[in-house]
Amino acid sequence: MELLGRVALVTGAAQGIGRSFAEALLRHGVKVALVDVNGSAGEACKKALDMEFDAACSVFITCDVGSPEQLKYAFRKTTDYFGSLDIVCNNAGVNNENDWERTININLTSVIRGTYIALEYMSKENGGKGGVIVNVASLAGIFPAPHGPVYTATKHGVVGFTRAIALTSKLSGYGVRINTICPAFVDTPLLNSVNCEEMMGKYYIFKDSVAKLMQHYGVLEPALIVQGLMKILQEEELNGAVMKITKSKGIHFENYEASLIQPELK
Ligand SMILES: NC(=O)c1ccc[n+]([C@@H]2O[C@H](COP(=O)([O-])OP(=O)(O)OC[C@H]3O[C@@H](n4cnc5c(N)ncnc54)[C@H](O)[C@@H]3O)[C@@H](O)[C@H]2O)c1
Repeated sequence: MELLGRVALVTGAAQGIGRSFAEALLRHGVKVALVDVNGSAGEACKKALDMEFDAACSVFITCDVGSPEQLKYAFRKTTDYFGSLDIVCNNAGVNNENDWERTININLTSVIRGTYIALEYMSKENGGKGGVIVNVASLAGIFPAPHGPVYTATKHGVVGFTRAIALTSKLSGYGVRINTICPAFVDTPLLNSVNCEEMMGKYYIFKDSVAKLMQHYGVLEPALIVQGLMKILQEEELNGAVMKITKSKGIHFENYEASLIQPELK
């Protein structure tokens, strides 16, 4: 996809991976809606980006992605403001085993909802002009994390949903490529959650072993996850891909057995 002049919506854009995505997209001439529940961090992020990029090329939208109304509003505001939509990064996520039902709502339900709303705007079936959706999962979407069973469940859900809806898109001619990124540990504020008993509940006891895992496997810079995003945006054949990003192997893909049943339409 040629990026110059495109419009992107990035959730969880106030900090961490989402902010790095937004920055990189702006650098490539994409207009970006920065969507985040954290109003003060979002405004601060917008202000910082405005120092480097044309202020008219980004907009900050306060939105709790866990609220269907707020998420729909964020998409509406983005298209009203920029006039179109080409790229959606469903990136917002939390690591909270204590409030596990909200974790499911943010990490999985809102990614599903964000994909469906994105398709309403972008699918050729609805008169849209196609586009790319990137759902951010985690290596915990492929391997089990004993310190985060619900986080693991949500990220496995994101991977399964994305693989399936990508096939649906291809078979139905939506013209929208849908892929997922599964990073290992990334240096963002989210990593601190494992040291927070209030968030981890009974899994707080794993904090030292998680610290050892980070030491052993290393912690990635968000810049490498941005490279993964750019690869997905630029390589037109990628659809339903599960991109893993680790310190030892860099950007690579999970290879699954071919689907036993490949339904056909018509
Ligand atoms: N950091 C890691 O080690 C790591 C590894 C693999 C995957 N991930 C995934 O990457 C994504 C981004 O994580 P990060 O590391 O940048 O985390 P982060 O905590 O640094 O940033 C997450 C952003 O999402 C926002 N957010 C949280 N809940 C929200 C909600 N309900 N509505 C709108 N915005 C909300 C936060 O305010 C924050 O700005 C998440 O889905 C996370 O699960 C992170």
